[in-house]
Amino acid sequence: MSTIKLAPSILSADFARLGEHVAEITRAGADLIHVDIMDGHFVPALTWGPRTVEAIKKWTHLPLDVHMMVEQPERHIASFLDAGADIITVHAEACTQLHWTIAQIKEHGAKASVAINPGTSLMAIEETLQWLDQVLVMTVNPGLPGQKFIPESPQKIARVRRFMDEIGIQAELEVDGGINAETAPMVARAGAQVVVAGSAVFDHPDGIEAAIRLLKERLASV
Ligand code: DX5
Ligand code: ZN
Repeated sequence: MSTIKLAPSILSADFARLGEHVAEITRAGADLIHVDIMDGHFVPALTWGPRTVEAIKKWTHLPLDVHMMVEQPERHIASFLDAGADIITVHAEACTQLHWTIAQIKEHGAKASVAINPGTSLMAIEETLQWLDQVLVMTVNPGLPGQKFIPESPQKIARVRRFMDEIGIQAELEVDGGINAETAPMVARAGAQVVVAGSAVFDHPDGIEAAIRLLKERLASV
């Protein structure tokens, strides 16, 4: 039985009904709620701030996996943690003092995670791996839901997992972008332990519950 976690991304939810959608994915068997924060700088789009995180926290008992696609995320970490974020992901590309930013997250007792874009090498986070609870390998360029999975991603995921195992790093490996029923088993086989899915959950023709069931079946089959 696979223990790979599914983290639906509410970026593809109806923003006017976020609470209900968070409750629905919780009931349907999600393991984490993935919350995409975009600042209009690191990526062109804008989404939510800490008050939205605080509001959706009331609709679920699941951990909130807050993915900050934000320049200088250290300016906002305390606010997101106060709002109820359980895991905070910052981008290696957005931090000039990555070690210090990770320390800030951990000081508050939250789980620290660092993301790398498709064009960023694992080496960008090599020196920080020992402090991380999670590593996020992006399988699309961040910014939009519904993009096509970059086909070379499984090799990178496997390389990251192998490197972490070799040096004894326990951090969980999360992947995000273009995950659907076809690509989920590919990333799971490559070593992903937490799988994010946005459009494959919220835009599925048979509804959210059926989409989550299908993805979990596919992940369990690996
Ligand atoms: C991409 C975001 C993702 C996005 C995933 O910039 O970080 O979390 O919501 O959406 P899908 O699963 O549709 O690629
Ligand atoms: Zn994300």
